[in-house]
Amino acid sequence: MRQQPSRTHILKKLLPRTAKAPAALIMPYFVVEGKGVKNPVVSMPGVCQLSVDLLVKEVAAAKKLGMAAVILFGVPALKDLAATAAYDAEGIVQQAVRAIKKAVPGILVITDVCLCAYTSHGHCGIIREGAHRLKGAFSLAELIDLEKTLASLAATALSHVEAGADMVAPSAMMRGQVKAIRKILDKNGFLHIPIMGYSAKFASSFYGPFRDAAGSAPKFGDRRAYQLDPASAPRALAQVRADIREGADIVMVKPALAYLDIIRRVKDGFDRPLAAYNVSGEYAMVKAAAHHGWIDEKKMVPEILNGIRRAGADIIITYHACDMARWMKERT
Ligand code: PBG
Repeated sequence: MRQQPSRTHILKKLLPRTAKAPAALIMPYFVVEGKGVKNPVVSMPGVCQLSVDLLVKEVAAAKKLGMAAVILFGVPALKDLAATAAYDAEGIVQQAVRAIKKAVPGILVITDVCLCAYTSHGHCGIIREGAHRLKGAFSLAELIDLEKTLASLAATALSHVEAGADMVAPSAMMRGQVKAIRKILDKNGFLHIPIMGYSAKFASSFYGPFRDAAGSAPKFGDRRAYQLDPASAPRALAQVRADIREGADIVMVKPALAYLDIIRRVKDGFDRPLAAYNVSGEYAMVKAAAHHGWIDEKKMVPEILNGIRRAGADIIITYHACDMARWMKERT
């Protein structure tokens, strides 16, 4: 349960220095193959899928605004049953990490580690043979080959870190994923690289726009077999405990706004830095209402982020991060 001293270096760069300081904001980006590509995500106004060349420019601008960290999501050209593009050294995220680390030194690059954008069926793990024929409700064990999934997630995390990632964030909600990643990173000499676990990730309708952005909606079934029931708090707390036991350096609650009670309970109950993910659907609602002139976005976004911070989040992953940083600069 002890914090690895060798990993505090990277954590310190990210975490707010005092209890009163605003939460650290992390800006998410979606990276696609190609050059000069900028595909707007219709359900997330202001967010685009970017090719590596344009992504590097955006990240440089984010750094200028004072952003401490970004998190990357890959949108690969190739999807298959084994999610091979996820752990390819020349994969889209791996290329993006290398380019950012070279062109924008000093910004922390975090990578999302999941298979859903890389599998042909859109599930977060490697499925068992014949699983696509399952009907009705099915269990995780019937759907997912856990052993293969953990091996692929670990290989993915290692390839991101070999490319230069400063931190990895496993989001597949597969039992044992943090442990498997910690093990492979340590074995390869990356003891100093922290893991941010998407520990309490609920099966939420608030992820809808993200699945457009990442092209990761499941083709059959849904994610309730591995994500948490939105109605239950105890399971969420148990997942946080399990992630910490497996070696997570930062734990996360996701989504944020409908789960502020969980954020507070994790903050009070566990001795780990806490991140909250202000997800795509939460962003889309604000943007849609602002577009109609029904709300004042510049006032509402700080209010939302303050609420998440008050609930207990030290770190907030939010698509509003760059706007927020810009507005704060304008004010001073
Ligand atoms: C990948 C992943 C998802 C999000 C982050 N990582 C989607 C999902 O679980 O369906 C959602 C982020 C958002 O909605 O902004 N598993």
